[in-house]
Amino acid sequence: MYAAFRSIGAYVPEKILSNSDLETMVDTTDEWITKRTGIKERHIAAIDETTSDMGVNAAEKAIARSGLSKDEIDMLICATISPDYFCMPSTATIIATKLGLGKVMAFDISAACTGFVYALNIAKAFVESGMKKNVLIVGAERLSAITDYSDRGTCILFGDGAGAAIISATEDKSKAIIDVHTGSDGSFADLLMTPNGGSGSIHDELDREAAGCFMQMKGNETFKVAVRTLTNDVVEILEQNNISSSAIKHFVPHQANYRIIKAVGDALALHEDQVVLTVEKYGNTSGASIPMAINDIYESGRLQEGDLMLLDAFGGGLTWGSALVPFAGKNI
Ligand code: UT7
Repeated sequence: MYAAFRSIGAYVPEKILSNSDLETMVDTTDEWITKRTGIKERHIAAIDETTSDMGVNAAEKAIARSGLSKDEIDMLICATISPDYFCMPSTATIIATKLGLGKVMAFDISAACTGFVYALNIAKAFVESGMKKNVLIVGAERLSAITDYSDRGTCILFGDGAGAAIISATEDKSKAIIDVHTGSDGSFADLLMTPNGGSGSIHDELDREAAGCFMQMKGNETFKVAVRTLTNDVVEILEQNNISSSAIKHFVPHQANYRIIKAVGDALALHEDQVVLTVEKYGNTSGASIPMAINDIYESGRLQEGDLMLLDAFGGGLTWGSALVPFAGKNI
């Protein structure tokens, strides 16, 4: 049995936070943000819109496009670092119930911006083992809830949104996800973290107000590790599978920073038509960024059945992952 990437969906909240809005909030400029990151705007969830709400909207689209009925979905994985509730219940169980999926196995994973690729790897393993037939994987983030809007080093980057995909069993090898690589290195944990709120930190009530509950990032150090790791990772997965970069129809990297994406694309000698870019309009949506980008090429008609995608992600942990994925769904 093989695992196929059957369908995609995404949801983008309505409200836009532009670079000029940020100019009024912190000491920054549209010119600096555009030049250093490629971001022009990001979307922000409404006050009463949760991570699970956004995940549900994305999942509804992925399910509708899969042609499956909801009772055929037998597992749900949600990748998020901004869950509805810390610790429990998981955002996945809430999404499953809001969707009406019944009593399926549902759980969250925490791998930051690599979360969707980790979820893909887990779904692939469950499907290939024959334990599950149709796995819904969701990347959903309300990063605005954990962003410090007085820190210009992070608040210019992050946005909210969700993406979802269905990974289904198939006997057709030509539709199979070819390979998924995943890795981590906790010795870099301090580069990108939310230092407070977990059981690793003991804090009094006053600390709850402190910035320790928000994301903190050593941006420039993270940038350098990101370029090195992402490049090594994609070179390795292509070499190990004997696939040349010219065979990649869509390179779908995590949308953290245009300069990182450009450096990795150049290292693989990719043509700009092969590189999927959404960072300009969505910013960095962590675990949601790759499925939101795949959905963009789907909805614009660029993604067709059989197209080979190369996914590449990197994030807090540090974690990283890449995947060689033929699109096994039909387009509109
Ligand atoms: O998604 C998971 C992984 N995350 C990433 O991969 C993100 C990686 N990092 C980045 O994208 C970039 O490092 C940033 C966009 C966060 C920062 O860009 P940079 O080119 O690495 O800038 P920097 O941190 O080296 O700072 C350069 C200067 C500093 O000023 P001085 O010390 O040279 O006077 C900063 O204080 O730019 C300053 N600066 C800003 N200036 C205007 C930092 N943030 C801003 C800002 N507006 N928003």
